[in-house]
Amino acid sequence: MAKIISGKEVSAQVRADVRAECETLKQQGITPGLAVIIVGDDPASRVYVNNKKKACADVGFLSEEYTLPAQTTQEELLDLIEKLNNKKEINGILCQLPLPKHLDEKAVINAISPLKDVDAFHPSNVGRIMIGDYHFLPCTPAGVMELIHSADIDVNGKNCVVIGRSNIVGKPMAMLLLHENGTVTICHSRTKNLKEICRSADILVAAVGKPKFVKADMVKEGAVVIDVGMDRDENGKLCGDVDFNEVEPLASYITPVPGGVGPMTIAMLMKNTLMAAKIQNGVLNNA
Ligand code: GUN
Repeated sequence: MAKIISGKEVSAQVRADVRAECETLKQQGITPGLAVIIVGDDPASRVYVNNKKKACADVGFLSEEYTLPAQTTQEELLDLIEKLNNKKEINGILCQLPLPKHLDEKAVINAISPLKDVDAFHPSNVGRIMIGDYHFLPCTPAGVMELIHSADIDVNGKNCVVIGRSNIVGKPMAMLLLHENGTVTICHSRTKNLKEICRSADILVAAVGKPKFVKADMVKEGAVVIDVGMDRDENGKLCGDVDFNEVEPLASYITPVPGGVGPMTIAMLMKNTLMAAKIQNGVLNNA
């Protein structure tokens, strides 16, 4: 029987810490501010953006929402980003992805000032993560590391397998595990012997985006299993990339869906925004 790592509990603790630090900053006349841009009316994005706004209110941040119509031009979007880059009250800028097809996501990410890039998607922040010299981490991998630490799991020398190679989760996830001296393998759709590789994992992180993809025969007894998935099963019910019922009896630790990695992502966004406010106000050095 696995121990359940509760993202609900750990994220509440992270948010409480951010709230306390925000209170201290406010006494120095600094209120962290996050701007969230949403283009179009994707229902999932709407839910995420609402949750981000609620989280800001919960920890005491200023939040501004910019809802733009689906037909917004690239120039209009870049103009808004430029305005927010120069707006003193705003410390973090997040442009909710995916964007409508006619907009150039890469150009939008590149336009956000690296100092306000609380998603850590800008190439300059990605590069800093690569060399282990960073302030901002992409929220989901950072949340996974926080969960691993909360359970006192030592990554040092462990075989870590990450399934998925996205820029947002898989690649930075691998890098963070490597920084903690894990021996890291990234698996993807072209990987041969996926089952065998997964079975070698002491720590298995599933970020594939396929419901219940990880089955019992892919997991070593006693492994730590982290589920980044947010999928729907055959009945439309929310589930993860891991078949929880099959895998839980085998694992030593496992994260549930919902209530695992999901709540951590927003908590880490709050942490990044706090960090951005500290750097921009000279409370912390950006060197
Ligand atoms: N869409 C889904 N996840 C994310 C995220 O972490 N950041 C942004 N900007 N958009 C997303």
